[in-house]
Amino acid sequence: MSDNVDVKQDDCLNVLLIGSGGREHALALKLSQSRKLKKLFVIPGNPGIGEIAECFSVDIMGNKEIVDFAKQHSIDLVVVGPEDPLANGIADALQENNIKVFGPNKLAAQFEASKVFARDFMKKHDLPSVKFESFTEFHDAKKYIESKGAPIVVKVEGLAAGKGVCVAQTKDQALEFAEDCLIRGRFGGSGSKVIVEECLFGEEASYLTFVDGKDFVPMVYSQDHKHACEGDTGPNTGGMGCYSPAPILESFEGELEEKIMKPFLQGIKEEGIEYKGVLYVGLMKTKEGLKILEFNVRFGDPETQVILPRMKSDLIEVMLAVADGTLSRKRIEWSGEHAMCVVLASKGYPGSYEKGKVITGLDDVNGVQVIHAGTKEDSGSILTNGGRVLNVVALAESLPEAASKAYDEIRKINWNGVWYRKDIGFKELERLKRKCL
Ligand SMILES: Nc1ncnc2c1ncn2[C@@H]1O[C@H](COP(=O)(O)OP(=O)(O)O)[C@@H](O)[C@H]1O
Ligand SMILES: [Mg+2]
Repeated sequence: MSDNVDVKQDDCLNVLLIGSGGREHALALKLSQSRKLKKLFVIPGNPGIGEIAECFSVDIMGNKEIVDFAKQHSIDLVVVGPEDPLANGIADALQENNIKVFGPNKLAAQFEASKVFARDFMKKHDLPSVKFESFTEFHDAKKYIESKGAPIVVKVEGLAAGKGVCVAQTKDQALEFAEDCLIRGRFGGSGSKVIVEECLFGEEASYLTFVDGKDFVPMVYSQDHKHACEGDTGPNTGGMGCYSPAPILESFEGELEEKIMKPFLQGIKEEGIEYKGVLYVGLMKTKEGLKILEFNVRFGDPETQVILPRMKSDLIEVMLAVADGTLSRKRIEWSGEHAMCVVLASKGYPGSYEKGKVITGLDDVNGVQVIHAGTKEDSGSILTNGGRVLNVVALAESLPEAASKAYDEIRKINWNGVWYRKDIGFKELERLKRKCL
């Protein structure tokens, strides 16, 4: 018997997860279910993650501190949640110290950290993209915007936490945003260059895949709701809710592989870019077919909250296959269940909001996952500590059932200023209703 225990112990890993949002809570839940897990460490984590893992206060932008922590705690695998540490070269720092990491290196992270790098790559390797130009001088941007007219899209070149895009309905809006970036320095260095793109029209969807450098395995499809208000109106946010499966992408399986992933893998090979981790392709279904809006180099938030509960395979085994470059030998199993995630936010979000409101009702919720995104603990109470505060995730046999389960339980949760969108999944729910008529 002791032999068996030893074998299992040898085979198990100390895993360090980096991040503190809803995505990381969902990752922590899935990692903690792995038969390969010895112990889960998280930096910095949040109160929800603290219930299932040990959280440590280490600067997520401090590569040396993270490497030292990993050595000190005999970490076998580091899983990086957000994009900032990846763009800051955390994967390179860990690899130099022979520590396995799930997440791309600094060069590969440019697919998200530089919108010009990403669009240039799409153009060069013939991925479905848009017409674009980039500018560092306002008068050049102005000339281009005036020649193209509105609607037109102006984007900050660098990372801007989801706030660096203006889908301008008028030339003046586009010029105002470009001026904000290039002359008034509103986004600092991230906005010292802008990219001006053709405006696309259509429905958006998220396509996430595991990539091991040579091969890819897609995850189940999901659809996020970026706008703050019902009917996909109002200002852009980090994401107000999500559901999976998203049938909108189902008829595109072949196209996703042939027109996006194969040229992507061929392109990185030609350019000598090593890409290991998640590739998140933000898509729009236009009249001319699927077009890429952007790449992200990590799991989506809140897509992860609906994708991972449907994953039946062992997440650590998949992540090791990604890190070791053996993904082609891996089959990933998914459940046929429908998952819905609704984001509960603070009054004022995505603009300014207050923090520190006492959250009530968390213990009354049944049969759904309550994911912590922006919370903190104080003397036994859970307080709001961000714009997106909690995510309620429901799983059911159908999307309408998942929706009613999520919304029934959400009503039990309260704080001064809580709000959420009441129509997550509405496009698919309407399509289902039309089918029944
Ligand atoms: N070319 C485009 N045409 C129409 N809408 C766009 C275009 N590019 C971006 N958007 C809209 O802006 C949102 C944010 O843009 P994205 O490129 O994903 O930047 P980020 O996520 O870094 O803020 C998208 O989800 C989409 O709604
Ligand atoms: Mg985006």
